[in-house]
Amino acid sequence: MNAIDVTGLAKSVGDSRQLFSGLNLAVRPGELVALLGESGVGKSTLLNILAGLDDADAGEVRIAGTALGPLDEGARTRLRREKIGFVFQAFHILPYLTLAQNVALPLALIAPDTATATARAGEMLEAVGLGDRGQGYARDLSGGELQRVAIARALVHRPALILADEPTGNLDPETATRVLALFAQAARAGGAAAIMVTHSAATAQVADRVLTLTHAGLVGGA
Ligand SMILES: Nc1ncnc2c1ncn2[C@@H]1O[C@H](COP(=O)(O)OP(=O)(O)OP(=O)(O)O)[C@@H](O)[C@H]1O
Ligand SMILES: [Mg+2]
Repeated sequence: MNAIDVTGLAKSVGDSRQLFSGLNLAVRPGELVALLGESGVGKSTLLNILAGLDDADAGEVRIAGTALGPLDEGARTRLRREKIGFVFQAFHILPYLTLAQNVALPLALIAPDTATATARAGEMLEAVGLGDRGQGYARDLSGGELQRVAIARALVHRPALILADEPTGNLDPETATRVLALFAQAARAGGAAAIMVTHSAATAQVADRVLTLTHAGLVGGA
């Protein structure tokens, strides 16, 4: 079964300006897809639709075999929590929680085992090079550090599908390489599918497939 299946997706914004239509995409477990495309073409909008955070005008999205369309808001939220790890372009780290609590949040929402959530959050912070910052707060972090917290949070519950919007955009090349290795490991060892929006050649290079979003849909890729 594919981690995600998209058929005939169409989306217009504002005064009926069409971003894309007839868009198809299938990503297998363990596969890393880089998504390119010029600014404003609709990459973030597409990721939001894939996560069920925004509605398409037409078409279908299936996450691990389950169609999003017929689900009510509660069922969508549950599916998103269990199956999806999302790295937003604007990190959305909650300012009133510690960084460790931010990272543990997806696990806390799925299961009430605090000890496991705390331990796993610590591991993930360690993996992104912020092992000693867990008790800090978002206000004390740089943009690149915040981004790494967002990545740790997206991977902490071992989601089947990782959606990441320019996950290495604010990182120096060395940290970016390390973070990319985390995504690759989640995909190749953990069997997750990942779709990563990127402008970076380094990100595209670790991907199994490189697709470009255009008004005609997704182009490229083997
Ligand atoms: N709710 C909305 N109402 C009107 N226009 C919108 C809305 N959401 C997005 N847009 C427009 O849709 C277009 C696509 O936006 P989107 O954020 O998906 O682009 P993007 O490919 O992610 O760009 P970037 O690379 O700059 O992040 C933009 O022109 C944006 O202004
Ligand atoms: Mg964007």
